[in-house]
Amino acid sequence: MLGFINTFVKMKIQHLKYISLLFFILSCTSPQEYKFFIGFSQCTTADSWRKDMFDGMERELSFHPEMVLEMKDANNNSQKQIVQIQSFINKKVDLLIVSPNESEAITPIIEKAFQAGIPVILVDRRTASNKYTAFVGADNFLVGQNAGIYANILLNGIGKVIEIGGLPGSSPSIDRHKGFLSVLNKYPQIKVELINSNWEKNSFENNLAKALQIDPSVKLIFAQNDRLALAVHQLLLRLGLSKKIKIIGVDGLADENGGLDMVNKGMINATILYPTGGEEAIQVAAKILKKKSFRKENILFSTIIDAKNVRIVLSQTQKMKGQQGDILRQSTKLKTLNQTYSSQRNRLYFITVLLSILILLGALLLYLLREKQHSNKILEEQNHAILEQKNEIEKVSMLARKATEDKMRFYSYISHEFKTPLSLILTPAEDLLHRKSIEPKENRTTLELIVKNANRLLRLVDQLLELRKLDAGKIELHGNQNDLRTFVKDIVGDFSVKAKSQQIDLQFICPFQTVPYSFDAEKLDKVFFNIISNAFKYTPKGGLIHVTLLKNVDKIEVIIADNGIGMNEEEKTHAFDLFYRGNQNISLGTGLGLALSQEFVTLHGGQIELNSEKEKGTTFKVILPCNQEGLFFQEPIVEMAVLKVHHVDNDFITGKKAMKQTFENTIVLIEDNHDLNDFLTQKLSQYYNISASENAEIGWEEILNHIPDLIISDVMLPGMDGFSLIQKVKSDFRTSHIPVILLTAKGQIENQIEGTKAGADAYIPKPFNQQLFEEKIKGLLENRDRMRRRFSNEVKNPSNLQKGERKFLIEFEALIEKNIKDSSLSVEKLSYELGMSRVQLFRKISALTNKNVTDYIAEFKLQKAKALLSESEKNIAEIAYETGFNNPSYFTTFFKQKTNKTPSEWRNQ
Ligand code: FRU
Repeated sequence: MLGFINTFVKMKIQHLKYISLLFFILSCTSPQEYKFFIGFSQCTTADSWRKDMFDGMERELSFHPEMVLEMKDANNNSQKQIVQIQSFINKKVDLLIVSPNESEAITPIIEKAFQAGIPVILVDRRTASNKYTAFVGADNFLVGQNAGIYANILLNGIGKVIEIGGLPGSSPSIDRHKGFLSVLNKYPQIKVELINSNWEKNSFENNLAKALQIDPSVKLIFAQNDRLALAVHQLLLRLGLSKKIKIIGVDGLADENGGLDMVNKGMINATILYPTGGEEAIQVAAKILKKKSFRKENILFSTIIDAKNVRIVLSQTQKMKGQQGDILRQSTKLKTLNQTYSSQRNRLYFITVLLSILILLGALLLYLLREKQHSNKILEEQNHAILEQKNEIEKVSMLARKATEDKMRFYSYISHEFKTPLSLILTPAEDLLHRKSIEPKENRTTLELIVKNANRLLRLVDQLLELRKLDAGKIELHGNQNDLRTFVKDIVGDFSVKAKSQQIDLQFICPFQTVPYSFDAEKLDKVFFNIISNAFKYTPKGGLIHVTLLKNVDKIEVIIADNGIGMNEEEKTHAFDLFYRGNQNISLGTGLGLALSQEFVTLHGGQIELNSEKEKGTTFKVILPCNQEGLFFQEPIVEMAVLKVHHVDNDFITGKKAMKQTFENTIVLIEDNHDLNDFLTQKLSQYYNISASENAEIGWEEILNHIPDLIISDVMLPGMDGFSLIQKVKSDFRTSHIPVILLTAKGQIENQIEGTKAGADAYIPKPFNQQLFEEKIKGLLENRDRMRRRFSNEVKNPSNLQKGERKFLIEFEALIEKNIKDSSLSVEKLSYELGMSRVQLFRKISALTNKNVTDYIAEFKLQKAKALLSESEKNIAEIAYETGFNNPSYFTTFFKQKTNKTPSEWRNQ
């Protein structure tokens, strides 16, 4: 007996170890993702044994989270159980566990489920068929046998036995009965009577009580379960038979009034251990579902428990229950852990997904960033290209603008070139028309002037056409071999008269007797004529112009050197520039000469070099290649005399013309065009004293010399231009009062504004009407007179004067005031103090006040004396000294002369 118990206990402990290991493994593994659905049809759930079975199942299921179990309770009703099993079949459960209420009744539905392919595990009770997958439970026949064996031991082979059977159609009831009888039938003195029950109390007590009444010799009652045994014990107690009749039960549960408890308390004699098999049923189910090998018949261990072994079994069972409790707690903990794990896993999944998204986003961002950088780079390149294009366009448009400006400048230049000769045609022609009687000689001079200027216009037009041809590349060289020495010498000779009139040292120098050379005489004639004309333009009276012809192995040089006013750097740079006008110092007299000259020399394969220094002079070097094959011309030699197309103005005047002091008003005229200068001088000298110059430098000297009443000046002048001259005149207090008329071809409004700003009093564009011009001069002079007359009446209040003039007079009066006591105060002293010459001061004061300086000082003294007489207590002598009279009687004479009263009379009036 003890051996059995040990085996049982060892098995349970082994089992628990295995469970713990499984728990550990499971706790380490992740929960399965799939699920098995198990239907469990229980015949009843009303007793502790069934509860124990279900607890065992749940414990085991806690290790199989992949399996889900649903239990239906048939309440000891076979029909109900059939319906419930059918519903599990309908649900297509993965596995069915059934504890059949009655064998025969339940067999068809189990077979149906089995045939439908649903694995079926029978627990505790069997069906009447072998169509099931596995059986888990103890051997009830053996249970009956053990009860029989123990009954025989208790009865010692003699006595009456009553067996309380279970539900008659249930397999344990049948098998236990069979097993019981199989043992006791061997003892003929033992009689067995069967009373049926439905496994529960109240179903048999009446029958048992009757049976005990009928046969009081009953020695032992075998109840097929412990609940029936308890009811038997209670009945026997009531009947007072408990000491007389022995009781054997089945199940062996450890709880209160369970088999073990009753054996321990002596309420019954023994119980046959009948395990529920809940855990084992789930273990088998797991094997089946996971397609592992399993046993069809899983027979559970069963043994007899009586007073001898009950304590150890109880203690082991309680120990086991404790461990089962631990397992349950751990299982609960495991569930919590699983849930935590699951939520953590979900979180991990979420974080992983989030991280993946972040990584993806990061990658996308990186990609976009790269893309952006790439497109930025492309954009930058495009921008750069656009910028370059823009710069290029700007450059081109700047060039275009410059070209337009150059053209405009050229047109303006050409207009000027045309306007001057036009003025000299129109003005004398109109003059002739308005004259009533004309001297024949004068008539001829005027007509000659007209013809001369018409020819000049023609020359200009020719030059323009040649430039046009040059521009279009149509101009060709025509000529043959000639003596260049003779050619150049003749051109220089043409200027000899002009040189003489201007007292210029003109020389032609050539160390060779003859310089044979192939050239286009017509073109080179224009080149040398233009350059020499230019030299004359800038060389003052008494200067020198030397023309030198040199010949080398491979080149000929014609050097035209002067010691004239020279050019500055900018003028040099643009000397050959067709459109350039710069600060207007470039000669206009040569027309398009220098630009054209350079083109002609280039046509000959040569070049022109220019050296010039301001105030020192200018040297043009015409370099022509010689002995070059390229210089052969097919056309016949043309006579040189015919080629002379130029005309030297030998009646050229530079500097000033002598002025006769005949008239009241003096005019300084500055006009670089000789003919116009001459014409105007001739016309104006009929009414005014004229000092005429051809450049502003000489003109300025004349202005200072004469302090004229009017200045007439051209704007475009060689050297200092008209605007600069006005500025000089207006900013010098010696000359600031002098009205200025600007006379120029430049008719544009902006030039007029420029001239007016500079201080011009009038602006007359060329060509002008002579009569109108003369009226303008007259008007300006009369204005000045009117102003002077008015001023002479109000010396102390020169309100009509310009600011600069007023300031001058205030300073002048302050100077008189300062020196008024000085009897030796003179015009010389005042002019010295003011930094002017005596004449300049005289002219200035006269121009501003219509008075001479001496009168002005006397007037000032008189005014002062009058003021002192009327406002002070000073006596006459004192006042005489105060006003610079050494002698009071001289003061009295002076005062009476001016006022017709003596100072005393004047004071007392
Ligand atoms: C529980 C029970 C047990 C018995 C078994 C037989 O319902 O009555 O007491 O041993 O059923 O199936």
